[in-house]
Amino acid sequence: MTKRFISLLLAASMVLALALCGCSSSSKETERKKRKSKKTEKTKVTETVDDDDDKKSTKKNKDKDKDKDKDKDKDKDKDKDKKDGKQRVGISFPTKDLFRWNTDGENLKNHLEAAGYVVDLQYANNDVYTQMSQIEDMIQTGADVLVVAAINGDSLGTVLGEAQAKNIPVIAYDRMILNTDAVSYYVSFDNYETGVIQGEYIRDSLELDEKDGPFRMEIFTGDPSDNNALFFYSGAMDVLRPYIDSGKLIVTSGQIDFDFVATAGWKTELAQNRMDAILSAFYSDGTQLDAVLCSNDSTALGVENSLAAFYVGNYPVITGQDCDLANVKNIIAGKQSMSVFKDTRTMVDQTTQMVEAILEGKDVPINDNTTYNNGVKVIPSFLCTPIFVDANNYRQILIESGYYTEDQIM
Ligand code: BGC
Repeated sequence: MTKRFISLLLAASMVLALALCGCSSSSKETERKKRKSKKTEKTKVTETVDDDDDKKSTKKNKDKDKDKDKDKDKDKDKDKDKKDGKQRVGISFPTKDLFRWNTDGENLKNHLEAAGYVVDLQYANNDVYTQMSQIEDMIQTGADVLVVAAINGDSLGTVLGEAQAKNIPVIAYDRMILNTDAVSYYVSFDNYETGVIQGEYIRDSLELDEKDGPFRMEIFTGDPSDNNALFFYSGAMDVLRPYIDSGKLIVTSGQIDFDFVATAGWKTELAQNRMDAILSAFYSDGTQLDAVLCSNDSTALGVENSLAAFYVGNYPVITGQDCDLANVKNIIAGKQSMSVFKDTRTMVDQTTQMVEAILEGKDVPINDNTTYNNGVKVIPSFLCTPIFVDANNYRQILIESGYYTEDQIM
């Protein structure tokens, strides 16, 4: 009995043990399965991430390949141009916003292309850093000569140093580039003379030598970081200052010094704002304004807009420079007295000749080797001659010469 009981007990405990064992093994299995499935999920996630990365890196690689292809294309173009015997000229201009740079840019590009060069013309939106990187790009893509009209005359030393290191000659176009010996030549109009012409125009129109006066005048010049602005201002002021000193010419606002009368970026709106303020502070009581010395057409336009809105007296003598279309129309309409005409065709011809001479190793045409010291050295220059245009001679100078058509100025 006892034996039977013991064997029964044993059998029961074996069943229990088996049952327990089965339970535990099945939970282990579940656990294992769970873990496996987690691992699989993890693996999946990792794989997905890897997949994304792969896709990204594939895209990156593709992009890189594309860039490489582009570079190759550029190089191919370059090689092709070189094989064709074509050399590259990089032109870096300040902005498309002002009429004159568009005209100059298109003319120069066409001339240089007609002379057989490949031309890369870029405008820098009046942003110094954009200009630097565009020039850098021109150097990298194999420019043989650079033609640069600087936004800020003092900021291109470093990038032009790179050009110099690669023996790429640099022509400063219209505006001098300061404090670097990387500038090879300068081509411009005589900037001081431009100012003199404006000053003399005011002197003669008001008959300052004949009449007692006093006459009232205001002054607007250009961007302080454009080296030309100071030349224009000095040329005009050398003519007019004696009359200011003698009291025959009164600058009613008292704003005479260059820093007070400069216009950042040569911006029409800024000139207009300052003129608005001057008119309301000094002329709203009916005081007569006799002349406004404006260094160029974009500033003159601002002054003219302001006068149209706020001035009721006799219209003053107003100077300008560039013969931009809008200003020529104003000259014809009696809203601007004159503009200094810098025939960009002459300057473009001259620049093309310079480029050709440089690249052919010939004597580079210059006519001035003393006036323009850029702070490091005197830059050999070709200075073209400016002339004035007003209502009496615009037809002959601008239309008969083919600079504008009659339709354009109507
Ligand atoms: C040029 C002018 C021009 C001005 C604004 C000067 O450097 O000599 O012709 O009106 O920049 O663009």
